[in-house]
Amino acid sequence: MDMITPEPRPAWIAGRAEQGTGTLVVTHPFDGSEVATVAVPGPEQVERAVAAAAGVAAEFRRAPAHLRASALDQVSLGLAARAEELAEVITAENGKPFRWAETEVSRAVSVFRIAAEEARRFSGDLQRLDTDTGGEGRLALTRRVPRGPVLGIAPFNFPLNLVAHKVAPALAVGAPIIVKPAPRTPLSALILGEILAGTDLPAGAFSVLPLGNEETSALADDPRLPVVSFTGSGPVGWSLAERAAGRKHVVLELGGNAAAVVLADWPDLACAAERIATFGNYQAGQSCIAVQRVIVERSVAEEFVPLLTEAVRGQAAGDPYDTAVSVGPVVDEAAAERVVGWVDEAVDRGAKVLTGGGHEGATVEPTLLTDVPADAKVWAEEVFGPVLAVSVVDGPDEAFAAVNDSAYGLQAGVFTRDVGLAFRASAELEVGGVIVGDVPSYRADQMPYGGVKGSGSGREGVLAAMRDLTVERVTVLTGIDL
Ligand code: SIN
Repeated sequence: MDMITPEPRPAWIAGRAEQGTGTLVVTHPFDGSEVATVAVPGPEQVERAVAAAAGVAAEFRRAPAHLRASALDQVSLGLAARAEELAEVITAENGKPFRWAETEVSRAVSVFRIAAEEARRFSGDLQRLDTDTGGEGRLALTRRVPRGPVLGIAPFNFPLNLVAHKVAPALAVGAPIIVKPAPRTPLSALILGEILAGTDLPAGAFSVLPLGNEETSALADDPRLPVVSFTGSGPVGWSLAERAAGRKHVVLELGGNAAAVVLADWPDLACAAERIATFGNYQAGQSCIAVQRVIVERSVAEEFVPLLTEAVRGQAAGDPYDTAVSVGPVVDEAAAERVVGWVDEAVDRGAKVLTGGGHEGATVEPTLLTDVPADAKVWAEEVFGPVLAVSVVDGPDEAFAAVNDSAYGLQAGVFTRDVGLAFRASAELEVGGVIVGDVPSYRADQMPYGGVKGSGSGREGVLAAMRDLTVERVTVLTGIDL
């Protein structure tokens, strides 16, 4: 599909399509070919978007739930109707194979549908206060009101669905949102803008601004946008949080070096190997919950490691338009060189390559390492590439300690059928989510999603994000016949 349009694809300024004062060219990560040109808005347009968001906030907060919910339903249906086109755009701008792009679109369809459902339900609580004599005849009514307009900053790895996770909850609670897609992958977010523009949302309720990093910093400082929801790298996220300290509510969805633990009781090692190989390499490893560290109990390691090696070898890498390929390129050649540089660093320090280890252009070979020192980058930091490292441990205590021996804590997967061990994992692992019987990469879009430690703060997942974007307001009613 030819995506080059006669004019640059427009930005969405307070709900209206506009050309910008500059342009940016989107290229295909696999071969660097030009995909499309996009309008970059100038300072006056950015100012109009912010002023409109601030100006409409009070009206939008009061908009009836049915209006917000039906707009969200309409977006969900609009995305579904354009699913094939969107998946093609995602493959072109991001480089992920078409089937993964299709999965991403269907997830975004669900995110807006779930947001519509939650918008209809989001109500508040009643609490009786007559638990002490001073509270007799009193009742607390607690509802949640939006903190205010949101700046959503999205990454390149899920160019549609991680934008959806910013936009849908904000609209569901009646908070205007300005979304800034990643400069490398703005196209699917701009199509989302077009679909949003077809709804009855008030002007100013949304803008989609493909901006560079400098302009985004200025936006992040703007007091009219009291919430910043950021998904991306740790250094950028933490610096945003420091700059905003005390003045803004900052939600950070940062990286991870997710672990999959294979315990000795797991009945089907071949299945665990297949799941781990697939989800260490899906999105070319560029998911914050892609499996990176594989921690296996010694008594099954001899059988499991060859199965995993074979399964990683079975992950075909290359041109994402080739239907046999499941691992596309990373974001660019510099990223591929960085990933392979980290592999080389581990090898120089004694690690062994079981398979992979090289790259061609931006495509990194699916790689499996063993004997990796615990402080090597491929173990201790976030690789964000198709690289897994396996470590053998003596029993669950050592396995759980190894998971926790990390600067990050987003999700962990534990392959066990032992309920006691599952509960121990749930209690002891320092992560935002534990997936029992599967990889850490499992994410259903309605569940709370976010990390501890270096993986960030705050939660996404539609309802969790709606809570995060709002603040409790208590109204005490007196003289009530309880
Ligand atoms: C992420 O990379 O944090 C998002 C993972 C997902 O939504 O599946």
